[in-house]
Amino acid sequence: MSSIMLKELLSQPEVLTACIAQNRRTVKEIAAILKSGKISQIVTMARGTSYNATICFKYAMELSTGIPVLTYTPSLTTVYKGGLNYTNGILFAISQSGASTDTLEVVKDAKSKGCKIVGITNNKDSLLAKQSDFLLYLAAGEEKSVAATKTFAAQVCVLDMIVGEVSGNDSILKDLEHAGEKLAAVKTLSPKIDDAAKSAKDYPHFIVLSRGLTMGLADEAALKLKECCYKFTISYSAVEFVHGPLALVDENTSVILIAPNGECRNDFINIATRLNLLGAKIIAFSDIKDVLNISDTKILMPPTTRWDANLVYAMALQMFAEHMSVRLGINPDSPRNLKKVTITR
Ligand code: AGP
Repeated sequence: MSSIMLKELLSQPEVLTACIAQNRRTVKEIAAILKSGKISQIVTMARGTSYNATICFKYAMELSTGIPVLTYTPSLTTVYKGGLNYTNGILFAISQSGASTDTLEVVKDAKSKGCKIVGITNNKDSLLAKQSDFLLYLAAGEEKSVAATKTFAAQVCVLDMIVGEVSGNDSILKDLEHAGEKLAAVKTLSPKIDDAAKSAKDYPHFIVLSRGLTMGLADEAALKLKECCYKFTISYSAVEFVHGPLALVDENTSVILIAPNGECRNDFINIATRLNLLGAKIIAFSDIKDVLNISDTKILMPPTTRWDANLVYAMALQMFAEHMSVRLGINPDSPRNLKKVTITR
């Protein structure tokens, strides 16, 4: 029997269509404020998968607009009772449930300082939705699986819509609108991805590498493997990795390389070559032949752009985690020790 997680992640093409239609107007309103010259910094607050979506956003926004994006460390507010000076700032609070307690506490503090709140959530009736000055509703349908999949896609999508609107780069929205076609191609990779999951399921731990615009996705893939497969997994930038962590590598090391062709192409080829020489097992999700040729497990991905790569690769990596989870006899919909809403401060 297939999992709810699988059903939800496979629904992503429709989710993206609904999310784009839902948010066009509010995205323009938020972009107008960001373009007004009154805002010099965006602060993001999120946990877990939602946090990883903010990392995708940070790269995309800073690259496209130069507006700094600061990922907030909530203990400043929740533990130390301090916090930021939000002058000329705006807070983007991202929570699929709209109920993460620390996110709400940071929102309350920012609001009390006069900061405008952009709330990004999949629950219109949530406290986050109610406290937001601008609500970006993800319209993904209820997410029942503990593992967030379709809401991650919707979060990345709506955040990239803002990047497109602020930067005036129309190709961003076009790529988001057409991402569903590439996701359909990813669906057909399921048997290949399942073979990869089967052959990797007994590896005790994984290192996930990527770089640049897909770095947030590497973090997210590592979270999914921990959450759904109980595998200790750590993510690094393919370049940061050689500043120390490379010493971990021997023939017992398994590395998942998220390597879309683009500006980071040579970095991906270089790290794959080094890992190969060191005897590591490489599971590559890539459309770069030179990477795939020296990898032990090869998932040939459809070509992507800067703006759809996170969505296209996310679905493949979510499938990998779900398939591995099922092969390990784990129920990916309700991993041990976890709940859908996590109460932390
Ligand atoms: C996602 O797969 C996790 N279950 C978890 O990290 C989750 O994203 C996190 O608890 C944040 O939840 P929220 O988006 O509802 O605030």
